[in-house]
Amino acid sequence: MKMVLLIISVLSIGFGLPASAAQHDEYPVASPPFSEGIFPCSNCHAGLSLNTKKRALKDEHASIKLHHAEKERWCLDCHHARNRDKLKLADGEIINFTESYRLCGQCHGNIYRDWRAGIHGKRVGSFKGGKRTYFLCVHCHNPHDPKFKPLKPEPPPNKPDPKHGR
Ligand code: HEC
Ligand code: HEC
Ligand code: HEC
Ligand code: HEC
Repeated sequence: MKMVLLIISVLSIGFGLPASAAQHDEYPVASPPFSEGIFPCSNCHAGLSLNTKKRALKDEHASIKLHHAEKERWCLDCHHARNRDKLKLADGEIINFTESYRLCGQCHGNIYRDWRAGIHGKRVGSFKGGKRTYFLCVHCHNPHDPKFKPLKPEPPPNKPDPKHGR
């Protein structure tokens, strides 16, 4: 009897988690790099009527200029139309912003594989030392305009003030 109970409890430890939670734990990530105050998006979007037309935005997000295969797509290919606090995969699955790497992985499969293996991007910690944390793709790439720009040359550094620190 004791043995049976033991087996049952071991099984429930292994299989008690919902699949989504298990997936989430597999790639613990740093918080999404949102601008302050923008999330939850539903603060505004719950009260807005839905406009699915591709257009230049004027009333809000005017600074977002899509430059990422933009001829073929629109915001709502990535953002869920009716629940703006979520992202949407091509097959219709709804995911959290903490899983945005899955969105990117749909089209950038090789990089996604490298990222999971810790080759592309950066990961803090290891199996031995503490909890591993992955940086999301969007910590390094702007999802709306992801290509790295050539760096502008910086002005020469100022001469240190000779009086400083005396
Ligand atoms: C390729 C997929 C993709 C497309 C297309 C896309 N977005 Fe995003 N967007 C994202 C992801 C992923 C994030 C989350 C970034 C993060 O985790 O902070 C995001 C973040 C945002 C944010 C929050 C920005 C902030 O300052 O924190 C806004 C607002 C937004 N998107 C609006 C738009 C609008 C408007 C469009 C169309 C003009 C658009 N998005 C098109 C993927 C996309
Ligand atoms: C301060 C209010 C506000 C917040 C917060 C906000 N939005 Fe919006 N959003 C708007 C308005 C207003 C529009 C319509 C702008 C226009 O038509 O010119 C819009 C448009 C959009 C669009 C274009 C498609 C559409 O529905 O018109 C996307 C995509 C979008 N928002 C995503 C987001 C995401 C993602 C967040 C959170 C990360 C967010 N928004 C947060 C007010 C907001
Ligand atoms: C629907 C397919 C699709 C999705 C989803 C997608 N991308 Fe892309 N991405 C492309 C295509 C196509 C290009 C090349 C064309 C362009 O840059 O406009 C590209 C270009 C890029 C580049 C520039 C590559 C270079 O040559 O410098 C980066 C970086 C990138 N994507 C990152 C991301 C990230 C991060 C996400 C998730 C937020 C993402 N992509 C989601 C299709 C996609
Ligand atoms: C820690 C920062 C970081 C993270 C996280 C990261 N990248 Fe990158 N990525 C880079 C850098 C740096 C480059 C090289 C840019 C260059 O050389 O122009 C790059 C290049 C790319 C390119 C162009 C590669 C090529 O072969 O032309 C794509 C596409 C890309 N990343 C997508 C992604 C996706 C998708 C994710 C998440 C699964 C991701 N990145 C996560 C920093 C990062």
